[in-house]
Amino acid sequence: SSTAEAFRVVRNPNPATDAERAERLKDLAFGLQFTDHMAHMTWTADEGWADRRVEPYGPLQMDPAASVLHYAQEIFEGLKAYRWADGSVHLFRPVANAERLNRSAWRMALPELPVEDFMESIHALVEIDQAWVPDAPETSLYLRPFLIGTDVFLGLRAPKRVDYLLIASPSGPYFKGGVKPVSIWVERDYHRAGPGGTGAAKCGGNYAASLRPQMAAIERGFDQVLYLDAATGSVLEELGGMNVFAVHKDGTVLTPILNGNILEGVTRSSIIQLVEDEDLKVVERDITLTELRQGIEDGDIVEVFACGTAAIVTPVGRMASEDFDVTVGDGEPGPVTLKVRQRLTDIQYGRAEDTYGWMTQV
Ligand code: COI
Repeated sequence: SSTAEAFRVVRNPNPATDAERAERLKDLAFGLQFTDHMAHMTWTADEGWADRRVEPYGPLQMDPAASVLHYAQEIFEGLKAYRWADGSVHLFRPVANAERLNRSAWRMALPELPVEDFMESIHALVEIDQAWVPDAPETSLYLRPFLIGTDVFLGLRAPKRVDYLLIASPSGPYFKGGVKPVSIWVERDYHRAGPGGTGAAKCGGNYAASLRPQMAAIERGFDQVLYLDAATGSVLEELGGMNVFAVHKDGTVLTPILNGNILEGVTRSSIIQLVEDEDLKVVERDITLTELRQGIEDGDIVEVFACGTAAIVTPVGRMASEDFDVTVGDGEPGPVTLKVRQRLTDIQYGRAEDTYGWMTQV
């Protein structure tokens, strides 16, 4: 239906004071601070979605047999609310996140959430906790909607009880140091996703599986991991939590085609549109590691960047694996990378006209 049901509000009896909130909004990092409330809905196979509420932020009561704790029945989303200079608060393409949540839900045998409920939960939470939307440069209120299987049963099946939660985290840059280029280890031994697997679903398990390779990369002195396709081991897919782009010296911008293993990034698709409107050509296709590495060495590939909601647009300065180690361009953020980042954040923060209709005021 098009009329969203209202979320009942149970106010936090002990919200942060103005002074406490101001203190917690200082020098924000990513994902460490949380607001006074969360949105919550419960689904049962018998009744569907019910009990829409906004309630005090706090620990969940969960039966230790809850299915998410055993079989990882979890999916999530990430989007941001931005404070504009005039004080108003705006979301970036929230419906795209609602729709992706439902594609992930389908893959993980979780119930779909009506887009209206997703939107209403966000509006209700951001409204009650609007004082938590920070206004310092490069900050935002990171919103984390997620679904978890909460039925009390150790048999393996599609859960008959599911909870939807939405929490909000006033956040600064995902990477310390802002637009500093990151170094990337190209992973040969482990894959993020395989054909027919869950690579395109935004499920927690994909991210859990990325942590061992990530740890190994850090031990080698690298910041992030780039995964190759499992079938051939030769085609680029994505980073542990970001999509990837490469810029050819002729201005063509390349990014791996959505092959079913890759997360369909909202930032990725937005960048494709922005780049096309800069009169550059975007080509979504298979990109081999050989081509990328050779291209960087020969100076044909002049920029590489990663993107995601949390990290926005992050330049890649160096790529390496067992048998190569190359600096991208001069190792500094390139002009296309910086331009794309600027265009995107100008729209998100209301500094440029939103000709795409991407922003929604809360
Ligand atoms: C995001 O960019 O929002 C993500 O979901 C990635 C996560 C690793 C923070």
